[in-house]
Amino acid sequence: MSKLIERRSIRKYDPTVKITKKEMKEIIEKTNRAPSSMNMQPWRYFIVESHAAKEKLRPVLYGNYLQLDTSAAMICIFTDLKKYEYAEKIYDKAVAAGLMPEEVREKQLRNIANMIPTLSEEGIEKGGLIDSGLAAMQLMHVAREHGYETCSIGGFRHEKIADALGIDSKRYKPVLILSIGKAAEDGYPSVRLDVEDVTTWL
Ligand SMILES: Cc1cc2nc3c(=O)[nH]c(=O)nc-3n(C[C@H](O)[C@H](O)[C@H](O)COP(=O)(O)O)c2cc1C
Repeated sequence: MSKLIERRSIRKYDPTVKITKKEMKEIIEKTNRAPSSMNMQPWRYFIVESHAAKEKLRPVLYGNYLQLDTSAAMICIFTDLKKYEYAEKIYDKAVAAGLMPEEVREKQLRNIANMIPTLSEEGIEKGGLIDSGLAAMQLMHVAREHGYETCSIGGFRHEKIADALGIDSKRYKPVLILSIGKAAEDGYPSVRLDVEDVTTWL
């Protein structure tokens, strides 16, 4: 069976297992290979791993305390409404790597500059939720490649989490929390709808 479909949400971890910054960076680097609209990569990760940071997160969670208390980290994924501030850096990197001709860089940056005034904050957030959701899925699989398991957590006060963590709530909009750590239980099997329930051929 493919490793991808063996993933389960794991809620209880070995609390003695931490993830080094070096390894977390590797996990994030691989996660960032996820696709995103115009390659703007709007995902931002806030790694809640210290006891003090976890205590800041606790009051904004709806349950999910087992993950909080046993995980190596709670990775809080936000999307950046100012993602376009990185456009130049992204396209500069592409040119430097020989992956994009200079003229394409110029054209893309011009297009983005023209587009920004036409965009609504809601539109940017919506796009960011899609991109960051794809990154979240990628992170779940990359974590497993590193021997860790995860649980998606949407059960938190979305309107409070940025302030609780001291993050700029105007700029960063919450997407999902992923707990990550070494599994201390197998996780429950779960069912899925039939393909016919969710698929329409046109
Ligand atoms: C957006 C989202 C929010 C979720 N929120 C929670 C949560 O707050 N707490 C929790 O224990 N699991 C949460 N889950 C996990 C789901 O319950 C789980 O993915 C689903 O039951 C299927 O089980 P599986 O992940 O083991 O395949 C969430 C999953 C998603 C995608």
